[in-house]
Amino acid sequence: MAQGQSVPGGPDFTQGVAISDLVNGRLVGHVGKEEVLLVRAGSKLFAIGAHCSHYHGPLADGIVTGETVRCPWHHAGFDLRSGEAVRAPALSPVDCWNVEQRAGQVFVTGKRAQERPRQAATKQGVGRIVIVGGGAAGFAAAEMLRRRGFGGGIVMLSNDAAPPVDRPNLSKDYLAGSAPEDWLPLRPDGFYRKNGIELRLITEVLGIDVRKREVIIAGGKNVPYDRLLLATGAEPVRLSIPGAEQPQVYTLRSLADCRAIISAAENAHRAVVIGASFIGLEVAAALRGRNIEVHVVAPEERPMERVLGPQMADFIHALHEEHGVAFHLQETVTAIDGRRAILKNGGTIDADLVVMGVGVRPRLALAEQAGLVIDRGIAVDAFLETSHRGIYAAGDIARWPDRHSRDRIRVEHWVVAQRQGQAAAENMLGLNVRFDAVPFFWSQHYDVPINYVGHAERWDEIAIDGDVKSRDCLLRYKHKGQVVAAASIFRDVENLQAEVAMERAVESLR
Ligand SMILES: Cc1cc2nc3c(=O)[nH]c(=O)nc-3n(C[C@H](O)[C@H](O)[C@H](O)COP(=O)(O)OP(=O)(O)OC[C@H]3O[C@@H](n4cnc5c(N)ncnc54)[C@H](O)[C@@H]3O)c2cc1C
Ligand code: FES
Repeated sequence: MAQGQSVPGGPDFTQGVAISDLVNGRLVGHVGKEEVLLVRAGSKLFAIGAHCSHYHGPLADGIVTGETVRCPWHHAGFDLRSGEAVRAPALSPVDCWNVEQRAGQVFVTGKRAQERPRQAATKQGVGRIVIVGGGAAGFAAAEMLRRRGFGGGIVMLSNDAAPPVDRPNLSKDYLAGSAPEDWLPLRPDGFYRKNGIELRLITEVLGIDVRKREVIIAGGKNVPYDRLLLATGAEPVRLSIPGAEQPQVYTLRSLADCRAIISAAENAHRAVVIGASFIGLEVAAALRGRNIEVHVVAPEERPMERVLGPQMADFIHALHEEHGVAFHLQETVTAIDGRRAILKNGGTIDADLVVMGVGVRPRLALAEQAGLVIDRGIAVDAFLETSHRGIYAAGDIARWPDRHSRDRIRVEHWVVAQRQGQAAAENMLGLNVRFDAVPFFWSQHYDVPINYVGHAERWDEIAIDGDVKSRDCLLRYKHKGQVVAAASIFRDVENLQAEVAMERAVESLR
């Protein structure tokens, strides 16, 4: 090894370890300068890169289900045999090593060549797949099509100027100024050319001609398709109050929106955030990270109570206050007059910038114009196909039959959009993958992550393990005695276990 290169901690696996050294079936050590996780799944031993390919989460702190290890941070999953990222948000594989057992010792030997992921036979008549949208679902679909060996054309149309980015970061580290630029692109620019994905940016799709199987784009030739995926996401709501269109009033969805807020923040002393939603409060935290005085104005009594319940809401409220955020709850902004936000109670707050985080609206215009069935979102079946054969929908726009809540639901979560994009891709190739994932999202406020699994539009009980104020808790939301969702702070394993329990509850119905 070159001088000066440090070797990670833990045992050198090439020298062998005793099986009894594996605590709870796992041990982190190294092979050369690479950190490796040795893990037991049933009676088998596997050696896999110790860190998640999403944001470097410690896989040793996750859980093993079957022959998959799940990351504790945002629930990605990796196949222990091949290293393939089998559950988003991770999309890239991790490395795998060979394991040998000799005389009661376990040795990790050479790194294995990356296995080719499972391939799908290209379905007859599917020569070109068109994806409308360059976000979570659209990108994950394109990547999955190539991963499964689809050899036909992929055209990805996006009205954004930026290639697909890690949108969740736009209200977190990147906005706070603590994430480098290269964290944002989901893939480097060269990826698209190398993988034959025709990414057309700044391309507005105006309509779909379902009879001719073509999408109509602004100022260009129609694009024919054999299969079409709609992944147009959602757009932020802009309150229709006087002054809302002024240049210092922002919403946040795209990288361009985020850069505009960062640029305004550079000379700002005080900001008003309208809305105590996830985005609103993450923006508040990020702006506090830039030392800007932040006022949050929102109509509810407790921030995020509708989604997380009163205990978590009180905690989040107190957490933001500890960091200097001033709340104006049960209050609304009725107008923005120059640099003054005018409140319903007649008060005013001077602000250099205003960010509206008052929810989003799914972008349904294309589906409506094409005559697809709409049900407060685009209605899709369990395979994410819309009412029109050959047209699929995924992500923030799709309402699907969720077997966990036994309801048709539409959610606005990054991981769900990615997993739906992947399932839609596989289904466009004829693989018949039922979309069954338990919804999951995370949110970050300062140094406090909140993980949420399941879907609870209503509940009649919240059972709390641990202590919310001490930032060490798992809350189970129960409806008619069933756990329908769980939220946690620094209880990542329990959150993963709650996810697995919800999966098993549905499997047992099959
Ligand atoms: C700032 C921010 C932070 C977030 N943080 C989290 C988080 O921490 N955790 C979490 O779970 N979720 C988070 N979310 C939500 C998450 O990002 C979304 O649920 C997810 O991006 C939805 O994916 P999607 O593919 O449906 O839509 P999007 O990612 O929005 O992609 C839609 C794409 O379609 C394009 N498009 C739309 N209409 C057209 C058209 N007519 N023609 C061409 N292109 C079009 C858009 O330009 C865009 O490229 C966050 C969202 C934002 C905005
Ligand atoms: S770091 Fe592993 S899922 Fe995000």
